[in-house]
Amino acid sequence: MYILGIDTSCDDTSCAILKDGKLVLSNVIHSQLKVHHQFGGVVPELASREHIRNILPVAGEAFKRAKITINHIDAVAVTSGPGLMGSLLVGLYYAKALSYSMSIPMVTVNHLEGHILSIFLEEDEPPFPYIALTVSGGHTSIFEVRDYGRYRTLGQTLDDAAGEAFDKVAKLLGLGYPGGPVIERLSENGRGDVIKFPRAYMGKDSLDFSFSGIKTAVSLYYKRYLEDKALQNSITIEDIAASFQEAVIDVLVHKTILASKKTGINTIVLAGGVACNSKLRERLTDEARSEGIKVFVPSPQYCTDNGAMIALAGYQRIIKGERADLSEDVLPKYPIEKIPSFL
Ligand code: KG4
Ligand code: ZN
Repeated sequence: MYILGIDTSCDDTSCAILKDGKLVLSNVIHSQLKVHHQFGGVVPELASREHIRNILPVAGEAFKRAKITINHIDAVAVTSGPGLMGSLLVGLYYAKALSYSMSIPMVTVNHLEGHILSIFLEEDEPPFPYIALTVSGGHTSIFEVRDYGRYRTLGQTLDDAAGEAFDKVAKLLGLGYPGGPVIERLSENGRGDVIKFPRAYMGKDSLDFSFSGIKTAVSLYYKRYLEDKALQNSITIEDIAASFQEAVIDVLVHKTILASKKTGINTIVLAGGVACNSKLRERLTDEARSEGIKVFVPSPQYCTDNGAMIALAGYQRIIKGERADLSEDVLPKYPIEKIPSFL
């Protein structure tokens, strides 16, 4: 069975072909970085326009790399939310047109479900149940994953997402967009323990996050830094980046392990764009191991937004008989609790 998976939730246009729910034949991602870079963040109207321009060529390239044609597709899976309204619309309406004109079934997928299940694109699969830490530019949540389609939110950010904090801190340090990769790179030559940026633990037992405070703390520190020559002699930009990164990772690692301990679930899956961060991958894996918890992390190409994870989540729904109606609409705010449970 060939499934076309489509994700246009934010600023990447992605189409993938998945065979029999597991084998990725192609996973084409058209990044809009060049368009948004100068603005230090994603501009929704420009993102939508870019998706319109790119959806057909990206789908065409996905068929080509998979060495199949549009006639071979058995079903189409598409992200219907959460995400940017104008971006989501492009993917959903392309999927609808394909489903109608080719007489093939369509399913709609929650973008977060895609991230949560992205680990199944890898050889080494986790057992159910597991704790999923989903960290991206738009989301930071800890989920309890009981099975395909059975998710419970244990904690989430009350303000900025972790990736958003990386992006905003990079912007204020004048490092460009997206912030995560550049901050990670600079941190390699910095000292993570020289500036004590605040860690928001939100109470001893809380699994919720808050990252707006640290962003403000870095901003205030940097203002002082620019005016203080003595400080500039002892502290580098790399130190600021590394100390910020360390503070964010401390909180992410602590809360994810706490979620595992509280639920007694000793498997953790890391997902989303921030999961590309090698320091986070390393720290979570090491600290969890010392607590007897096993950590699974997808390869970076499946951490950032991609069509393959949507095809995989869609496949699980298709084989259970789920079908989307062609009248379905986008859901820019689409909490995981609203996901239809499996038939
Ligand atoms: O999952 P994703 O591609 O898109 C969303 O759904 O948001 O995640 C993008 C986010 C951006 O905020 C970016 O700065 C962050 O992931 N990111 C990283 C790294 N690579 C990407 N954050 C920290 N370290 C990285 N290496
Ligand atoms: Zn995402």
